[in-house]
Order: sequence, then C-alpha cells, then structure tokens
Amino acid sequence: MTTKPSRRAYVETYGCQMNISDGELMEGILERSGYHIVRRPEDADVVLVNTCAIREHAEKRVLGRVSQLNGLKRDRPEMVIGVTGCMAQRMGSTLLEQAPYVDIVMGPDGYRGLPETLSQLETRRAAPPGSESPELFLDRARTNGIEVVGEGRKRGPQLAVLQLDMDENYQGLEQRRANGPSAWVPIQRGCDHRCTYCIVPYVRGGEKNRSADEVLTEVRGLAEQGVTEITLLGQTVNSYVWEDLPFPELLRRVARVDGIRRVRFTSPHPRDVNQELVEVMATETAVCEQLHLPAQAGNNRTLKRMLRRYTVETLLEKVEMVRAAVPDIALSTDIIVAFPGETDAEFRDTLELMRRVRFDDAFTYKYSLRDGTPATRLPEGDFIDPDEAQARLAELIEVSREIQTEINRSEVGRIEEVLIEHEGRDPGQLRGRTRRNKVVVFDGDPMRIGSYAHAKLERTTGATFVGTEVETARRVTASV
Ligand code: 5AD
Ligand code: SF4
Repeated sequence: MTTKPSRRAYVETYGCQMNISDGELMEGILERSGYHIVRRPEDADVVLVNTCAIREHAEKRVLGRVSQLNGLKRDRPEMVIGVTGCMAQRMGSTLLEQAPYVDIVMGPDGYRGLPETLSQLETRRAAPPGSESPELFLDRARTNGIEVVGEGRKRGPQLAVLQLDMDENYQGLEQRRANGPSAWVPIQRGCDHRCTYCIVPYVRGGEKNRSADEVLTEVRGLAEQGVTEITLLGQTVNSYVWEDLPFPELLRRVARVDGIRRVRFTSPHPRDVNQELVEVMATETAVCEQLHLPAQAGNNRTLKRMLRRYTVETLLEKVEMVRAAVPDIALSTDIIVAFPGETDAEFRDTLELMRRVRFDDAFTYKYSLRDGTPATRLPEGDFIDPDEAQARLAELIEVSREIQTEINRSEVGRIEEVLIEHEGRDPGQLRGRTRRNKVVVFDGDPMRIGSYAHAKLERTTGATFVGTEVETARRVTASV
C-alpha cells in the first residue's frame, strides 16, 4: 500500500540571507514536485524549520519554536516536522533525540532530495507490519544518503540527511521567489576559510560556485519577470571564480543585464576586495554605492587569532581604495567582541577602528562558543566573563550608533532614489531603500510598491530616514 504524499508545505526560515535563499530553494523544489506552499504552519502537512547555527542564541530560539510547532501534532499526528539548515547539520541525530517529535533533520546539502526523503518517510509510516522489512527500508534509504534514526519507536521513523556534498551547488534548481522588485541570487555555497570562531565551514562545507552562465541566465530570466534589483549571495562572495571568470567580471556582466537597475553583493571577504572589484563598482552604474566589509575586530593580534588573513592596516588600505574610487560609498561591517583572550586594550582598538572608518552600519555580536570550531580549544582562562562581554558589546553598540546617527544627520536634505519595497508601519506609508542601502519611509500609494521614486530625506531616527517624495531630483535641486 502506498499513501499519497502530503501536499501542503510550510517553510520557516531563520538566519542569514543565504538561509533565506535556501528557504526559497526548498519551496521551489517542493513546489515542482507537487507540493502547495502555504504561509501558515497550521495549514501545512509538512512543516520545515530552516535553521541557523552561527550563535548559540539562534539555536535556542529555534528549539523553542520547534517545540511550539509540535503542539500542532496533537490534533494532526501525521504532520511532518523537519529541521533543516545549519543547526540541523550541526546537531544531527542529537537533535532527533532532544526533540523526539522531529521527523527529519536535513543539512544544507540535502535539499535536492527533499521530496524523496519525505516520500520515504510517508511510505515507511504507512507500511503495514511485515510489508517491508526494516532492513530493506534502511538499505533503500541509505542509498539515497538518508540515515534512519529511531526506527521502531512509538513515534515512527526519524530520518537524518547529513552528508556534505563537495559538488552540490544546486545547479539547475531555481528558487520559488515572492513576486517583487528584488531577488537574491546565490552564486556560491560553503566557505574555504577557517575563521576560528565560525561554524559555517563545518556545516556548509567548502566553497562551491555556480556556473557563470547559469547565474547570468537566471538574472536575465528575473529581469524579464520585472525584477530590477539583484543581490548576489555567497559566504565569501567576492572569492567566487568560475573557470577563469573571477567575481568582478561576473558582477560586471550581471550589472549589464537589460532591465537590471541595481546590483548588490554580500558578504565579501576583505582579503578579496581588490582593485578589479573596486573598478567595476566605480564604473558600472547599476552596482550600488554600498559595501559590507566584515572587519570582525580592530586589533591585529585578535585578527590573527581569528585567522582572518588581513591586518588592521591592510583593511584600512582597502577602505581608502574603495572610498577613493566610489567617494559616496556606504560601508557596513560585522564585529565580534569578547573573542577568547581579547584584552580590554584590544577591544579598545576595535572601538578605534570604528571611529577611524566610520561605518554607516554595524552588526555587532558577542563571541559565542561553537562546538567543533578551533577557538573552543583556546585555554579555558581565555574565555571572557559574560558580564564583561555584555559590557563590551554595549559600548560598541553605543559607539557605532553614535557614528551612524552623525552620518545620517549629515545626509538629511539629500534627494535619493528609493526602490519602494513595501508598506511602512503607519497607514499610508511606504518603505524602501536608497542605492546606499538606507531605509526611507514616506507617504504614498501602495500601488507604487516595486517602483522607484525620489525622496528628500527630511529627518532621521538615527538608523532610518523619514522623507517626502519629490518628482525628480533635478526639479527639486533647481527649486532649492
Ligand atoms: N560568535 C559570534 N559571532 C559570530 N559570527 C560568526 N560566528 C560567530 C560566533 N561564533 C558573526 C560574524 C559573521 C556574522 C555573520 O556572524 O561577525 O560575520
Ligand atoms: Fe565563517 Fe570566516 Fe567563512 Fe565568513 S569567511 S563564513 S566568518 S569561516
């Protein structure tokens, strides 16, 4: 006897843009194999929680959410709960033990086989006793890279798909994207760096790039559907190379696709920010005046122990190089405080770096120990007291907010092109981004979502702007 597969699937994603893009990929794979994607877990037969492992806090949140979703199984015991993504890869079978109501754990390289894994689960659940021996089932599952954990328990089989695949770049598979003016296009998966604090290389494997032809075909297709803004995605996106085509050249070609008006990319590694890249940023009008440059720390001893492969001096040179070529560029960064062994003086060097560079935006984190990463082997005495770590984070946030507010205040009065992304919080308000990736809200008709407008920046809340729409930049400039 076979059962029909469940037909309604819900994917809930946590974490970075790459993970959000993976969520869209899973939806695309499921939709093509006959599933209907729904927007609420209550309406779904299959609920997938697509997780992040970058910090402990992110994992704790997800465990809470998965246990909450389990409540839905009370009325519908046949519902499937899957946990996918980096945390699934990191915890593997441990997660199935800790959360016995989870039916599938699947790492980031298992998504191509998602429909097959789901149908294996359903078939096994429906198999009347004796129809197929557990051994046969296990064999069949294993050939598909599926490990069966917990078979024979009251709750039925639990499946784990955790093999990392050196070649899986999801070539040939497209995301299911929400209609809108912007699209994220993954060009690279995994990471060849080994920053000592970071779990990513262990849960996503080494760097795998997509063919440039496929990327360009996808971008052209998106442009034909009305997408005007593209963000190229990769863990170290600017180290991308396909055959002899390096990232700056791919960026140039994407920027020249008809209909594409804005191109961004994230996250670059500072080491691979070079003259060629900067030249493309300066000359291709579609490439936005914005760069995320994850510094992580502002002290050379810390950077070395993080294995970041650059120094404060070389980082500052890159900043100068970018600013010389694109004077109005908006820079953002990621910073980790309280890396094991970081002294107070070294932390102050990071504050100093923030003051020297004056980033427009900073994503700030307290170091979070990730099992299996090299930093866990640092001497026990090096790990920084949580209160001290919290105090450093608070100080860093204060400094970075102060700088952000000063920069944004100095930009009040400018007229900027805004891509209207959605409605604002208040009725009648629209919310969008400038080319320099700054958020602006202004009054307007929701019918305009997806189109471009010009807004005069009237005031700032510190991080975002309130503006008024103006007809064209030229007209207002003339009347000022
Ligand atoms: N602890 C704290 N922050 C981390 N990041 C990565 N790993 C850790 C960790 N173990 C931060 C880095 C990275 C961003 C995405 O998350 O700053 O750039
Ligand atoms: Fe992690 Fe470093 Fe790779 Fe970024 S470059 S994903 S921080 S290992």
